[in-house]
Amino acid sequence: MSITSFRSANSGVQTVTPKVTFQTLQEKKQAGRPITALTAYDYATARLVDEAGVDLILVGDSLAMVVMGHESTLPVTMDEMLHHTRAVRRGVNHAIVVADMPYGSYHGSVAAGVANAMRFIKEAGAAAVKIEGGASRCELVQRLSEAEIPVVCHVGLTPQAVHRMGGYKVQGKTLASAEELTRDARMLEAAGASVIVLEGMPRELASIITSQLRIPTIGIGAGPDCDGQILVFHDLVNLSFSRPAKFVRQYADAAALFRTAIGNYIHDVEQRSFPEESESYHLSKEVTDALKVAPLKAHLLRKA
Ligand code: KIV
Repeated sequence: MSITSFRSANSGVQTVTPKVTFQTLQEKKQAGRPITALTAYDYATARLVDEAGVDLILVGDSLAMVVMGHESTLPVTMDEMLHHTRAVRRGVNHAIVVADMPYGSYHGSVAAGVANAMRFIKEAGAAAVKIEGGASRCELVQRLSEAEIPVVCHVGLTPQAVHRMGGYKVQGKTLASAEELTRDARMLEAAGASVIVLEGMPRELASIITSQLRIPTIGIGAGPDCDGQILVFHDLVNLSFSRPAKFVRQYADAAALFRTAIGNYIHDVEQRSFPEESESYHLSKEVTDALKVAPLKAHLLRKA
């Protein structure tokens, strides 16, 4: 754990929480200790994920699908990503917060990519940004590094390229594409990437890439040999409303839990068993009696 730390802002108690840094992730790779990462999109889930001790929280553009109900990640905008990153940032005291740069925010030009990345750092409090793509992103990675912005790269199955890939398909299955992905990862590292997400690729390829890089890899659908793992929070707790991908492990059934809670609430309201006495505020007997005999006075009292 890095010696960098900070004081808890909300509690008023002078607790010092160890803060995860990219140095911490690097140390974990060297020590062979797995890096843990999850997505979060709002204050409440960010707090839960952070308090559980995850190393890295990604405000993923997957929010387009799991929070906003879009069919792909493509429609989410800079303003929407900034809004959610701010909410997540307020819930996090420990983990590295990484903002995912949405489709279109870095594809037009390197200058636009740098300007948009700076917004995540300055306006939303992210510690780093994530971009999808291979060697063609090297110039942007270099410029971001020069601008003191740590970059998480993302290769393999890159959802922003869904139309080019012809669907959400496992990548790197042929020798040529496996070699290309390996080359991409090495070039992104050389350009200054701090971490590389490996998504949707054969575990053997992810293992080879991981062993060839100095920087950590974080896998999703890339097998167990990456330096860390990431999942979409809504997949982890069954809130995605879609058939889970092969690589997803559901650790809880929040949908079932929420359905039961909502059903019980509806039942209790309809049966007039909610709210009950202990869940109500009360008037003194004196005021109650006065209200009963003098409705006009009661009206005045309400106004006051
Ligand atoms: O947007 C996202 O959630 C991601 C992860 C799947 C890595 O990019």
